[in-house]
Amino acid sequence: MSAAIIDGKAIAAQLRTRIAAQVARFRQSKGVAPGLAVVLVGEDPASQVYVRNKGKASVAAGIDSFEHRLDAATSQDELLALIGRLNADPSIHGILVQLPLPPQIDAGRVIDAIDPDKDVDGFHISNVGRLNTGQPGMVPCTPLGCLMMLRDHLGDLSGAEAVVLGRSNIVGKPMAQLLLRDNATVTIAHSRTRDLADICRRAEILVAAAGRPGMIGADWIRPGATVIDVGINRVPAASGKTRLVGDVEFDAAVAVAGAITPVPGGVGPMTIACLLANTLTAACRAHGVPAPEGLTT
Ligand code: GUN
Repeated sequence: MSAAIIDGKAIAAQLRTRIAAQVARFRQSKGVAPGLAVVLVGEDPASQVYVRNKGKASVAAGIDSFEHRLDAATSQDELLALIGRLNADPSIHGILVQLPLPPQIDAGRVIDAIDPDKDVDGFHISNVGRLNTGQPGMVPCTPLGCLMMLRDHLGDLSGAEAVVLGRSNIVGKPMAQLLLRDNATVTIAHSRTRDLADICRRAEILVAAAGRPGMIGADWIRPGATVIDVGINRVPAASGKTRLVGDVEFDAAVAVAGAITPVPGGVGPMTIACLLANTLTAACRAHGVPAPEGLTT
């Protein structure tokens, strides 16, 4: 048997269509567009691609996109001053500072300077606290996208045995919280976990966010499991160029898993769609109207 392929690109396209319709309604009723500011410091090539894609997707959904590209030598104080201006600007509902930042800047200080209500990345400590205590806040885009795909494919996650491989603040930890909120039984595993393969093999839901290409082979996967591959790793290709692969050995895993997300075309498109969803949610809250159903948890 071969696993069902969870088509993140198609699910994201549907979500973006719904968001565009809701953005149009928001613009009509409020007379303003949701506004997203994306800040890029330096010239990291991967970050440049991400920022460009975020800007294009925003405009396609009817969201006003404001890109701030700053020199790699920008000081922390200059960046904090920009954040202060964006916090105070009523036409900006969402602020995203692309990570990583150059070494002279403390990312934690910058994230904590963002108004939590505009923190569409969901990285501010106040949003982390809200997620962990079950209060409405901003939920990080990548885990939110993974949760939407899991709900779409499995329906109710109650009681499911879930393993999250990876403990980053961006993916692993918020993913575990979201699964817990949906009543899954959650294990967070990581590079120091003993018997890692055995623990992964227990999972009915396996979310791979380790950042190591092809780390998870077929023998780490419980037969019939739903596998979400968050990895985006660039590796040399036979052609002499490079290609993107996930953390899961896709070709082998397909023979064992019940369902799996491909790389590319799985988690990546959902992350961008969820950024648009968070921006619309933030704009609605700023204008005192309820966020549309299904855009957040
Ligand atoms: N760099 C890699 N992933 C992300 C993300 O989700 N948000 C931001 N701001 N930077 C990133």
